[in-house]
Order: sequence, then C-alpha cells, then structure tokens
Amino acid sequence: MNKDDVLRLLRSSRSGHVSGAALAAEMGVSRTAVWKHIRTLEREGYSIEAVPSKGYRLTASPDVIVASEVKQGLGTRTVGKEIVHSAEVASTNTLAMDLAQKGAVDGTVVVAETQTSGKGRLGRTWTSPRGNLYVSVILRPSVPVSKAPLITLMGAVAVASGVRRQCGLPAGIKWPNDILLSGKKVSGLLTEMSAEPDRIRHIVLGIGVNVNMDGRALQPDVRRMSTTLAAAMGRPVDRTALLRTLLAELDLWYHRFLSDDADVLAAWKELNVTLGHRVAVSGGGVKLEGLARGVDAEGRLILKLDDGTLRQVAAGDVTIVKEKT
Ligand code: BTN
Repeated sequence: MNKDDVLRLLRSSRSGHVSGAALAAEMGVSRTAVWKHIRTLEREGYSIEAVPSKGYRLTASPDVIVASEVKQGLGTRTVGKEIVHSAEVASTNTLAMDLAQKGAVDGTVVVAETQTSGKGRLGRTWTSPRGNLYVSVILRPSVPVSKAPLITLMGAVAVASGVRRQCGLPAGIKWPNDILLSGKKVSGLLTEMSAEPDRIRHIVLGIGVNVNMDGRALQPDVRRMSTTLAAAMGRPVDRTALLRTLLAELDLWYHRFLSDDADVLAAWKELNVTLGHRVAVSGGGVKLEGLARGVDAEGRLILKLDDGTLRQVAAGDVTIVKEKT
C-alpha cells in the first residue's frame, strides 16, 4: 500500500471526503502513515483539503501521468502490465531498449513527461516539451525478423485508432507512420530493434503524440507542419485517458498482428492518406516521385515511377505532391 492507493481512494470517494480512519483501515496502515502519504502527494502537486470530522478531499491534481491510474480498468493482455514513469529522461526509447536488454517483460511501457534527447526518424531530434505523450513499448514478438517493419505499421494503426476513439478526430496515417489531422502531423513513431539473424530479441515501439503542448515550443518549420490534439479539439485533452486508450489499442492490434498480420495491413490501408496520390519520397540522399500504388507484405511503399516501373521504398519522407483525382 502506498500513496497511489491513497490517491485512488480519494478519487473514488462518492462524497469527495474520506476520513483518515477509513483510509487507514482500508490500507491496513496507521493514520500517521496515511498522513505521510498525503504530505507526499501534496509535495507532488496535488491539493488535498483536510476538513475536521469529514476527512480528506482531493481538490486539484497536477497534470502528470500516474502509472497506477493508467492501469485502472486497462484490461489489456500484454501492453501496460508494467508501466515505468519518469518525470524526465533522455529518450523513452533509449531507456526502454536498456530495460529490454535487462529482461523487461513483453508489453512493458515507459512513459515520461519530457525528454531531453528525444529521437525522431531518420536521425532527427524529437522536441519534447511538457504536455504531450512520450511513450515506448517493449515488445517481444515471436515472428521472423522480416516481419519487424509491420510492427511500426501496427503501431500507427493503433495510434490512429486510439485518437479516433478517444477524441473523435479523423486521424489518418501517412506512410510509413506519421499520424495526421487535416494534413498536419500530430504523432510520430520510431521503432528500434535488437535481433539476431533469425530471431527478434526485442522491439521498442516509440510513440510521440502532440497533445497539450504550446506549439511555440517547436521550431517554426516543424510548427507549420504540425498540430496538437488540444488545438484540434479546442480544449485540453486528458492525457491519462488518452494513454489508456492508446495502450488498449496497441494491445488489441499487437495480438491481431501475432495471429494474422494481414489484418494489420488491411487496417493500415483503410486509415492511410498516402496511397493513390502522386508523392515525392526523399531519404538517404535519393528523391523519387511517382504514384503511391500500395504497400507490400513487409510494409514497403510501392511507387509507380513515370516510366512505368515499380519501385519498393523501405524508408523515407513522403510529401503528397498531387491529390488523387
Ligand atoms: C518521427 O520522427 O516521426 C518519430 C518520432 C518518435 C518520437 C517518440 S517520443 C517517444 C519515443 N522516444 C523517443 O526518443 N522517440 C520516440
């Protein structure tokens, strides 16, 4: 029993107030121990009033993720059984790779309020101010190494579905794994893997979602192409509820992927906003332009070039140069 239990009991009180004696009895500890937990919560930014003869009442909470709250009613099979929360890390992906190396279980989630060296795709940095979600999930799928890119597509399907479910916004996926709202990026995914030639040791699926941040934290060129869920909703978004929904969707899609990855590809195609358009793809010093025809079984983009030849592209940045006619 710890301060998280006190918080849970305060939150679930019908009348709002819970007496110190009731808390002590429920937790099987002394009233002094309860009082110490209350003080710890206050130091973490919670406001708790103490009314003689009524007890304690939670009046305000800091906007931080609390692992025990995320777990409440989560009901997943694998994702989020273990949640590691930090106020600040260099990168949740780096911490998750480290924990995975040390044996963290399948589905372990690492979440931070801010990152000092957040990593983006293609060696970029991911600016990570407070107010957003920075999450990495450790996965240990028993599938061939060649299937690993599909995990990223699976993550994109889960995030787009989660945003749709939680916020009712029409999130779409730009190949391979940018989540867009009205053409602007609201989330990005970065997958890292440790593997032997014939076996995946572990994969870390890193997800950054622009939730409530002040957009001015971003560089002007990034800001122009980005949005936040709060901007799209016209009000702040509950990050705990959003994270719970994202983890539930990840769990659902992870298990679908393990039983039949064709389901993931079909869902990705349903949610994508790239296929059927004329696109420019850049990456690794190469720029190609053509019609985005499809994705293959390993998640590569199939481009039809102007001379009619087909090219499969494994990595790069896509810009839509002409909408589908
Ligand atoms: C992209 O470039 O679109 C991918 C961005 C991925 C950012 C997330 S935030 C959580 C996790 N930790 C990181 O350092 N990166 C990923």
